[in-house]
Amino acid sequence: MTKTTTSLVIDTDTASDDAVAIMMAARVPHVTVRAITTVAGNVPIELATRNALVTLELCAVAAPVYVGAARPLVRALETAQNVHGEDGMSGVAFAEPTMSVESVSAPEALVRIARDEPGRHTLVTLGPLTNVAAALLIEPGLLSAFTSVVIMGGAFDGVGNVNRCGEFNIWADPEAAAAVVDASGPKLFVGWDMSRRHAVVTVAEAAGLRRQGPIGEFAVAINRCVGDFARAETGLDGFDLPDPLAMAVAIDRSVAIEVRAANIVIGTDDVCRGATLVDMRPVAVADAPNAEVVTVADENRFKSMLMAACGGV
Ligand code: RIB
Ligand code: CA
Repeated sequence: MTKTTTSLVIDTDTASDDAVAIMMAARVPHVTVRAITTVAGNVPIELATRNALVTLELCAVAAPVYVGAARPLVRALETAQNVHGEDGMSGVAFAEPTMSVESVSAPEALVRIARDEPGRHTLVTLGPLTNVAAALLIEPGLLSAFTSVVIMGGAFDGVGNVNRCGEFNIWADPEAAAAVVDASGPKLFVGWDMSRRHAVVTVAEAAGLRRQGPIGEFAVAINRCVGDFARAETGLDGFDLPDPLAMAVAIDRSVAIEVRAANIVIGTDDVCRGATLVDMRPVAVADAPNAEVVTVADENRFKSMLMAACGGV
């Protein structure tokens, strides 16, 4: 039986883990990249866009890149350069990309793809949801035009990575995240809890990735800063790859072993900024679900996809 092709639209604040996710999308068979939309988050928009172009060129994949929001909807931009390095890629030297970006903005591109090509693509978001929220203002039915919407975001065990309760993608632009959870259409969240539990690359596994060749070397080298941060701040036994885990779910839904429907409210005040508050009451009294959350992921399947994507030339 021929494997169906998965076509992806990837919204990204491209830093080191986003880059590995893009690399997976570029190198997994039966997956095509329809478009990349960039958003400020990990790094300012210029670097997020440059890093996306560098990654596409390294993987010898051509896809239109649309530049998006340079700051959150209503807040000032606060980056995660303390985690990913000043350039988002641990300072690894790259030739400047030769590919150019499209003239249409990222939100406009999301709207056009949704309206002109309904039911053909999966939307994967790997950064703050600013572009998606802006696109929803133009096209409220945006999410329903995608076959699925996989969102790397949230801290569903209540453990944040920016403050006590906020995961960065949600925390960086909580108003945008609130607009997305309130919108109609499919939303499958892959939270930082899943990354900490199922997507930590140990020293031995990193050595295995590097042995796959230049792409594996790239994946490990650009995540050096994340590894330093993880060991020092979050106490993980290696560097975790939240965006590649979300990408794996988007490419192969069976990576999401357990999924639960949930009503999510986003914290937007100072105390709860970025919290993904799930209504855990009995179904009879809980608010109606507005999303799905991955609660168990297949680590072995994810890591074999990652290893395969790092292989070859
Ligand atoms: O909290 C992890 C998320 O924040 C990932 O998408 C990482 O790239 C950063 O954007
Ligand atoms: Ca990201």
